[in-house]
Amino acid sequence: MSDAQKYSSKLHASRILIIGGSSGIGYAVAEACLESGARVAISSSNPQRVESALSSLQSSYPSKKSHIHGLTVDLSKPDTLESELEQILQGAAQKLGQNGKLDHVVFTAGDALAEIKLPDMTYKNVVAAGQVRFFAPLLLAKFLPQCLEDTYKSSYTITTGSISEHTIPNWSVIASYAGGHHSMVRNLALDMKPIRVSYWFLCGFWYLANLDAGQWCFSGCGGYAVVEDAGGGEGENARFVCEEIDDGEAGAGGGCGGELYGGY
Ligand SMILES: NC(=O)c1ccc[n+]([C@@H]2O[C@H](COP(=O)([O-])OP(=O)(O)OC[C@H]3O[C@@H](n4cnc5c(N)ncnc54)[C@H](OP(=O)(O)O)[C@@H]3O)[C@@H](O)[C@H]2O)c1
Repeated sequence: MSDAQKYSSKLHASRILIIGGSSGIGYAVAEACLESGARVAISSSNPQRVESALSSLQSSYPSKKSHIHGLTVDLSKPDTLESELEQILQGAAQKLGQNGKLDHVVFTAGDALAEIKLPDMTYKNVVAAGQVRFFAPLLLAKFLPQCLEDTYKSSYTITTGSISEHTIPNWSVIASYAGGHHSMVRNLALDMKPIRVSYWFLCGFWYLANLDAGQWCFSGCGGYAVVEDAGGGEGENARFVCEEIDDGEAGAGGGCGGELYGGY
């Protein structure tokens, strides 16, 4: 008798679009989805990064080459945001879907964090700071009911950070959008029902003091980090071993860890 596959079979043959899938968390999600038997489209703004992530996935999963697609989407321009979102959904559904529909959409796209000091805040730079991280995932929801299968088995997932729950100097703008993600998801779940809506709440520095050796955490360096030595508590850095997806080389602490410590 073969083993039960109660959980590992859940994504089998699912059609999944990952916006921001060319690196970091989105890339790791693509790997996990492929290993679970899903068909995956990754997308981001830089065609070279999309291409390189695509060939890296194809070389890791040679038997699933035809299940992996790469698409370009640039969410950085207010005037073209809605048309880009509509096109990426249509493009992914065309590549992945038998009937032009998707099962899951994951949004992990994020541009550079806009650290802005109070005196430097302007209407323009505050709005620009939310373009990719806030307005894009919110407006994407407008198009999802037509693209996702209309069932509780479909889902939309976004990413946010623990800055919504604590404080960092000059992060008021970033924190405002991160806090907004929580209520965005709650209300979208109502407006998009029966499709499930959720977020991944990712943390860097703030919770690291609570990690134990052997636990892992995603890092801002485009990979994930395994805690080697949890350190002595708050203020004392844990040491990480980071695996960078870009070049496949493992590095310890230092640069990669720095991204985590300075993180969200
Ligand atoms: N990593 C953490 O510890 C952590 C903690 C808290 C929150 N988060 C949040 O989780 C999300 C993912 O984090 P990550 O570490 O995986 O980030 P990442 O490695 O920097 O990946 C960001 C992705 O977004 C894409 N992107 C950037 N600008 C874009 C644009 N204008 N249009 C479309 N795609 C764009 C990037 O590709 P291109 O450059 O090709 O566009 C890349 O694929 C981010 O929103 C981040 O703020 C992460």
